[in-house]
Amino acid sequence: MSSRNSAPALPDLEGRTVVITGANTGIGRTTALALARAGAQIVLAGRSRERTQPVIDAIGDDKAHFVPLDLASLDSVREGAQGILALDRPIHVLINNAGLAGTRGQTRDGFELAFGVNHLGHFLLTHLLLDRILASDGARIVHVASKAHHRARRPSFDALRETTRTRTAWPEYCVSKLANVLFNAALHRRLEGSGVVTHALHPGVVASDIWRNVPAPLDRLIKLFMISDEEGAATTLHCATSPEAGERSGLYWVRCRTAPTSRLARDEALQEEMWRRSAEWCAIDWA
Ligand SMILES: NC(=O)c1ccc[n+]([C@@H]2O[C@H](COP(=O)([O-])OP(=O)(O)OC[C@H]3O[C@@H](n4cnc5c(N)ncnc54)[C@H](OP(=O)(O)O)[C@@H]3O)[C@@H](O)[C@H]2O)c1
Repeated sequence: MSSRNSAPALPDLEGRTVVITGANTGIGRTTALALARAGAQIVLAGRSRERTQPVIDAIGDDKAHFVPLDLASLDSVREGAQGILALDRPIHVLINNAGLAGTRGQTRDGFELAFGVNHLGHFLLTHLLLDRILASDGARIVHVASKAHHRARRPSFDALRETTRTRTAWPEYCVSKLANVLFNAALHRRLEGSGVVTHALHPGVVASDIWRNVPAPLDRLIKLFMISDEEGAATTLHCATSPEAGERSGLYWVRCRTAPTSRLARDEALQEEMWRRSAEWCAIDWA
């Protein structure tokens, strides 16, 4: 295992505020705890206060702020964004971390489940928080994508509006992660010169709860070959805090190093088509 995936030393984050989705467990939880230890205020946006309470307790009430937000509902994302803005804090880092894999279904608004949660909910959230992010000194947006985006076929925009077609939901997960990488590239174009940077990353193959649908004892077996949540958080922390990532933008990172994205992810027409459709589906004016 590369030492580049071990927890990086973080700068002093006193006075900085980080918004992170899906921080009650897995990579997000470890990321939030590390950022809080470095001094940041953490806004934990998630589905369940009850499931997030142990993380809030570990961070401390003076530094942790919970906001309810279900990415499978665009109304909930709108309410969550309002709740975040109402905290009246700057947003120095937005980490679009939450995600699911291997679960079939549709979101409240009728989108394929992985696409709706992993991409569309975060697309809308980013839009709704962007003015505050732009007004925050040296801000960053971090998308926790996946190397699975390399496996994605060209998305069928019709399929994104239906329930999951495949039995494993793996092809749909790959498309959702491709959408994360496409979003990063298109967002970078729009943020150029603004002072805000955006990055996407692959955290590694991490023994988190994301494998909850793999039956026992196979789940325990495959986790033997995976890295820990702590190692999995390293690249997110690098993108969110390192001077190196602060000076560059629009990149994709693996093991705290920049890495190439897939041919489809680099297709500018597809980046723009995904952006246009996402804005239309979220009913927002975001050209
Ligand atoms: N683990 C890996 O090997 C791996 C590899 C590549 C990329 N990733 C990416 O890393 C990110 C974090 O995954 P993880 O491995 O830490 O998984 P995890 O342990 O399953 O955590 C996922 C988080 O997302 C939240 N979430 C799921 N659906 C949500 C929804 N509708 N609204 C709001 N939050 C929701 C979960 O909250 P609940 O507890 O409420 O469900 C949980 O906090 C994901 O984007 C994933 O795609 C993971």
